[in-house]
Amino acid sequence: MSAALATAIEPSAPVIDADRVRMTYGHGALATPVLHDVSLRIRPGQLVLLTGPSGSGKTTLVSILAGLLRPTAGVVDVCGARITAMSEGELARLRRAHIGFVFQADNLFPALTALANVVEVLCLRGLPRAVAIPRARTILGRVGLADRLGHRPGELSGGQRQRVAVARALASRPDLLIGDEITSALDGATAVEIMTLVRGFVTPTTAAVIVTHDHRLHRFADRIIAMEDGRIVADTTVDCQEPS
Ligand SMILES: Nc1ncnc2c1ncn2[C@@H]1O[C@H](COP(=O)(O)OP(=O)(O)O)[C@@H](O)[C@H]1O
Ligand SMILES: [Mg+2]
Repeated sequence: MSAALATAIEPSAPVIDADRVRMTYGHGALATPVLHDVSLRIRPGQLVLLTGPSGSGKTTLVSILAGLLRPTAGVVDVCGARITAMSEGELARLRRAHIGFVFQADNLFPALTALANVVEVLCLRGLPRAVAIPRARTILGRVGLADRLGHRPGELSGGQRQRVAVARALASRPDLLIGDEITSALDGATAVEIMTLVRGFVTPTTAAVIVTHDHRLHRFADRIIAMEDGRIVADTTVDCQEPS
């Protein structure tokens, strides 16, 4: 399905089209509504920052957009496919074909080298090892880790680990990159390096949604969406962006 899907997408079709998404955790007396009718559309070519106070629903929203969490109500289309109507198997295929994720708590395999961390994920996605290895070397070189291919996560700095995580997400050539607080544990200069990588990923056919509360990163954005208490309270298109 995903190959047909990829070719069926018109270039200007939204990468994400979410309509009146609601999320309530728990049931009965414990029910906690955390998203209230959130609608948003993200077109290819956009680097979107999602901001807002802790607890405002950012992680919940991006988890739903990534197909990792099912909303209580509402519909979500990703790359033209209605993910809210998909089976778990279909969702897994769509994620593999179209979506890359990076999370704050970097979930690299601690026993594997930087190179193997990228190669294994590509192989899991069905790439032959002979294709995966050169591709992984290239992308790790592009994130400045050519001389760290044989290092394990414990032998890398926080910024280097996060660069491996970004390289791993980008190696599968997703249409949509989703990052949740990917720079929160990093110093300012390293955060800028990571955002420069993300900026370089966004082309007229791809998009990125990055959760952050770091105002220093605003200059990388095409658009800044602010959340409060489970609602979008501001949605600003930025004219002037970081040259990439
Ligand atoms: N698995 C869960 N079960 C119950 N409540 C949750 C769960 N995950 C998040 N929440 C609650 O949902 C609200 C939004 O959380 P979250 O989406 O993580 O916000 P943010 O990422 O903006 O900090 C918070 O009040 C949080 O406590
Ligand atoms: Mg969060």
